[in-house]
Amino acid sequence: MKELQEFNQFFKEYSITSLKKRLGGVKEVFEICSYVFEVGGKFFRPFLLYKVAEYIDYSRRDKVLPFCLALELIHNYSLIHDDLPCMDNADFRRGVPTVHKKFGEAEAVLAGDMLLTLAFDFVSDCKDFEPQRVLRAIKKMSQYSSYRYLITGQFFDIWIQKNRMERNEQSIKITNMYKTSGLILLAVEIPIILFQPIYSIAYKLVRYGYLLGLLFQATDDFMDNDGLAMVLGKEELRDLIDKLYNRISKIELNESLKDIARFVYDRVL
Ligand code: IPE
Ligand code: IPE
Ligand code: MG
Ligand code: MG
Ligand code: MG
Repeated sequence: MKELQEFNQFFKEYSITSLKKRLGGVKEVFEICSYVFEVGGKFFRPFLLYKVAEYIDYSRRDKVLPFCLALELIHNYSLIHDDLPCMDNADFRRGVPTVHKKFGEAEAVLAGDMLLTLAFDFVSDCKDFEPQRVLRAIKKMSQYSSYRYLITGQFFDIWIQKNRMERNEQSIKITNMYKTSGLILLAVEIPIILFQPIYSIAYKLVRYGYLLGLLFQATDDFMDNDGLAMVLGKEELRDLIDKLYNRISKIELNESLKDIARFVYDRVL
């Protein structure tokens, strides 16, 4: 998706510059904490947040950039910790050694802590929206990154791995919704909180965000051949992905948001 590539180039620089302002004082800390941004992922969540903001209020879309950064910081923190030996024990991410492999385990824990905490620092500076709205967005960020979604999902994921929770279609679907859909839904809900569109628009967007989150992890499981692919088999998972994508396609939004869903769906073609 050309738009996503253009956004990536800009956003990577914006993120690293922002991190340098806070962390530049201690060179090694900056190096460890900015490593995941230097490597860079798809920047899918900040792009989605930006495009939803653009859909609601085109002229003020740039005002949400600190929130885009916060979301990517939270996402990256969650992956640094997800890869740790005590969690998924992954040696590589995005084609390069994981943070603990490159810099050490304690450093990876601390880098994750740093990114998560900094996310809240960046958005607290925001003066472009009414303070009440910023506060509500921050509250939503903290809820979705913790008990309402992400951390609860990671607990379930770990318990399934440890056989403390049953591995079946229902438990994996619930885990996927918690661990992944939360941050994707957050990318949609933050601009709704900040711009307050009319109810009919907000309703469509939330439905879109919820289904897109499910589609995202379903396609991730399909590509990694784990999660839902393990309990459903690839063929049945492919049917589920088709159904989810068809439901999203029927929601009347603009072309950019439809393209984003298409981009996620295309990963399994
Ligand atoms: C990977 O997310 C983890 C999941 C929640 C599936 P992404 O596929 O967005 O990873 P990056 O940021 O592009 O590397
Ligand atoms: C990660 O899920 C979801 C998080 C909330 C970190 P996975 O463990 O499936 O993600 P990958 O496959 O390591 O990217
Ligand atoms: Mg995991
Ligand atoms: Mg993992
Ligand atoms: Mg995965």
